[in-house]
Amino acid sequence: MKSIKVGLLGIGTVGRGTFEVLKRNQEEIARRAGRGIEIIMVADLDVARAREIVGSGVQVVANGQDIIDNPQVDVVVELIGGYGIAKELILKAIAAGKHVVTANKALIAVHGTEIFAAAKQKGVMVSFEAAVAGGIPIIKALREGLTANRIQWIAGIINGTTNFILSEMRDKGLSFEAVLAQAQALGYAEADPTFDIEGIDAAHKATIMASLAYGIDVQFERAYVEGITKLQGQDIRYAEQMGYRLKLLGISKRVKNGIELRVHPCLVPSKCLIANVEGAMNAVMVHADAVGTTLYYGKGAGSEPTASAVIADLVDMARMQSADPSHRVPPLAFQSDQIGDDPILDMSSVVTSYYLRLRVADQAGVLAKVTGLLAQCDISIDAVLQRAASEGESQTDLIILTHNCVEKDMNHAIAEIQKLSSILAPIVRIRKEELS
Ligand code: HSE
Repeated sequence: MKSIKVGLLGIGTVGRGTFEVLKRNQEEIARRAGRGIEIIMVADLDVARAREIVGSGVQVVANGQDIIDNPQVDVVVELIGGYGIAKELILKAIAAGKHVVTANKALIAVHGTEIFAAAKQKGVMVSFEAAVAGGIPIIKALREGLTANRIQWIAGIINGTTNFILSEMRDKGLSFEAVLAQAQALGYAEADPTFDIEGIDAAHKATIMASLAYGIDVQFERAYVEGITKLQGQDIRYAEQMGYRLKLLGISKRVKNGIELRVHPCLVPSKCLIANVEGAMNAVMVHADAVGTTLYYGKGAGSEPTASAVIADLVDMARMQSADPSHRVPPLAFQSDQIGDDPILDMSSVVTSYYLRLRVADQAGVLAKVTGLLAQCDISIDAVLQRAASEGESQTDLIILTHNCVEKDMNHAIAEIQKLSSILAPIVRIRKEELS
């Protein structure tokens, strides 16, 4: 059978990996796909560098439009990133009847609905395995492997940069700022690490997974997003003393009134497998009614791990290209006319448990006042730790772990406790998930 012809938009780190893995494993990949997969054209602003990577057998151009205009190209692989030219070229490729593979999580999380509608109208496929957790085949698992299940929740470490920072803070006792500087010097973190450290990158990925799991449109704008920039080393140490580790989690849950979708720092039990995912690695836990809990672990970024996901999409396309569009796997797992309208809940109605750190005057009755206010807000305490004040010190840290409660009740309780004259600094609140 005739090989499938691919045009690459952008040949940076992931593009190079895709080219090299396809070349190295071409025979084995063709045995799986039933036909060859051939990159025939590459568009990159740095034409000289692109030529150096692909050699003489591949046409290199500076303008992505040339790939779209080439009738020989069956599939366009978008590896440019961002919302601008990437979106424009993807929509043009679809309009030209080409299938699209993208690693662009931001684009899918924000503009996915428009892109999938355009693809359906033209009867072409849009695939995005590389957009979530790099080399981990989590999209495939959610879309196909778990298709028998009603998925109840997903919790994932889906940003390697922040997991590396939190691991280093814990292991070496360094501050957030010190580890970030180190990560940048080592090239782990971007020069502008905002999307990573503010939780935005993780929220893009959590948004995509929630759509696949619960059959809802991608709605990044409804996700609650809180990053790791305000975390302090002392909270990592107190959490450890109480049997927990601190991770940046992307969480989605199906609850009675809708869907929770949130990214924030979170305490998880130290014994839990996901708590032991260290460095830049990613892991995703999925809890579903038939299978129970499953865990997916691996490299969430990097040249060849991400290329592995891009090529998996290309193999699917090679197999499915001639199939009737109605027989293909729908991009969001659910048939497009079966996408539901379960609302994504406001953070104030989320139910979770909490870690609170209070800087208090070391006086009689302080603990009673604090627990009294928590009780008034219907918040039950799970554990308390009070650091013994050093000699001559008149203040100390009081750590409280709560049972599950509604976030708006916790907001109210914190506001009331903060008013007490014995509370000497802003209260630190970190959410906690037992993942059981
Ligand atoms: N910046 C991401 C991370 C990798 O640190 O995990 C690409 O999604």
